Amino acid sequence: MKSQFTTITHKKSFGKFVKGTAHITLLDSKSKLPKDLEKEEISYAKEAFKDGKKAVFNCFGAIKVLLLEDEKDAVKRAELLRIAANSLMSILQEDKITTIEISASKSEDALSLAEGFALSNYQFLKYFSDKDKRASSIKNIHVCASSKKEVDELANMLEAVCHARDLVNEPVSYLTAPQLGLEIKSLAKKFGFKAEVWGMKKIQSMKMGGLLAVNKGSEDEPSFSIMEWKPSKPKNKQPIVLVGKGVVYDTGGLSLKPTANSMDMMKSDMGGAAAIIGCMCAVAANKLNIHVIGLVPSTDNRPGKNAYAPGDVITMYDGSTVEVLNTDAEGRMILADALAYAKKYKPELVLDAATLTGAAARAIGKHAIVGMGNANKKEMNSLQKAGSEAGEPVVEFPFWDVYADDLKSKIADQKNLGGAEAGAITAGKFLEKFTDYPYIHLDIAGPAFMLAPFNYRGVGGTGVGVRLLYKFLSAR
Ligand code: BES
Ligand code: MN
Ligand code: ZN
Repeated sequence: MKSQFTTITHKKSFGKFVKGTAHITLLDSKSKLPKDLEKEEISYAKEAFKDGKKAVFNCFGAIKVLLLEDEKDAVKRAELLRIAANSLMSILQEDKITTIEISASKSEDALSLAEGFALSNYQFLKYFSDKDKRASSIKNIHVCASSKKEVDELANMLEAVCHARDLVNEPVSYLTAPQLGLEIKSLAKKFGFKAEVWGMKKIQSMKMGGLLAVNKGSEDEPSFSIMEWKPSKPKNKQPIVLVGKGVVYDTGGLSLKPTANSMDMMKSDMGGAAAIIGCMCAVAANKLNIHVIGLVPSTDNRPGKNAYAPGDVITMYDGSTVEVLNTDAEGRMILADALAYAKKYKPELVLDAATLTGAAARAIGKHAIVGMGNANKKEMNSLQKAGSEAGEPVVEFPFWDVYADDLKSKIADQKNLGGAEAGAITAGKFLEKFTDYPYIHLDIAGPAFMLAPFNYRGVGGTGVGVRLLYKFLSAR
């Protein structure tokens, strides 16, 4: 799989103007016009600002000027700039711009604008026969304000987001569970982390009952991937483990998805896996000095001949039993085994990312991630800080033990279905039973996949979670 990625490079200052280049100067205030403007440009800009315009495109010298009215709040400012970049895309495309050069007095501003451009410029063209015709003209972004180190770090992180988006956008006709394992191997090689991928035999010998149950209706083998980034002297003694739901397609199984069109976007049910994989890529590319492990249990969920059925009692990897009451609650079945497996690392912290419940999406929509957990408050706070900075905010839901009452079964240790209410939380409480370490669960069902373009997040897979988790880890 080859990702279409815009290169982002550091440059000391604007290059000489050549056709196809856009120079974008970001201004802090109307009064501070850049020194290199022509006379006509200055008066043009001043007139436009008087008229109340915030962005001015002055094409005299092919210099385009963008003014951002002072937004002091850094989080809001970064998001404004990412969205502003997205709204400039059509103008740049019309002009067949190939290179965008950005300068700003504040380096964070230039980086945010570059981030918005790069994420907006992502396209998934693999299955079009006229790819070349459809491809964006924009190929390079030069950031003139910041240090080379900052720009390279951003570029690496955004390349990882593009890989995550590719994975989500791939339909199950290509991206089966074994294929997801192969993709992980090739990304591991490219980015320099370790990966081991298990197939059916090994998963059977490990007695991962939850993953095997969901896979029973499938023609394809399940896979279980273990990724690792371990620098020689990491800051953390015990690893941080990331777990991602890798359901490459969710039909609901025998409890077939009931509502019209509810299956249309279910190739995105491995969005959690994509977030974890992307995060591993970003961590390795930027050589973060922390020990991180990524686990991805993967299968499709189908009503095949021998599919697991409502009423089944499954013995999970940790030896506990689960009564299956809805085969569409499959994510928690496969995640449970991965979370139980994570115990062996004696982790400092475990986070999972999963498109786990429609309830989470209904509660907060596409705008945020639902987070909950039992790790100390400091962890959730810094996760939320990273999320706000990344434009991937995390809303904390309660995680009280009373919610687990809904999971009591008459025949087994737990049932895989909660009550009619608080579905996102009962799913989280189900998972917690398989942990013995500080744990945070992230339900990304809302923001993982867009049916219509949503600013710089684009259409289709958004790669949500990569930037959140990367920022969370890099801030440690
Ligand atoms: N993959 C779905 C959740 C989902 C729904 C993700 C919509 C993205 C958009 C999950 O496997 C599922 O089917 N959850 C059920 C759980 C229920 C049966 C307890 C749900 O949310 O309806
Ligand atoms: Mn399901
Ligand atoms: Zn699912």
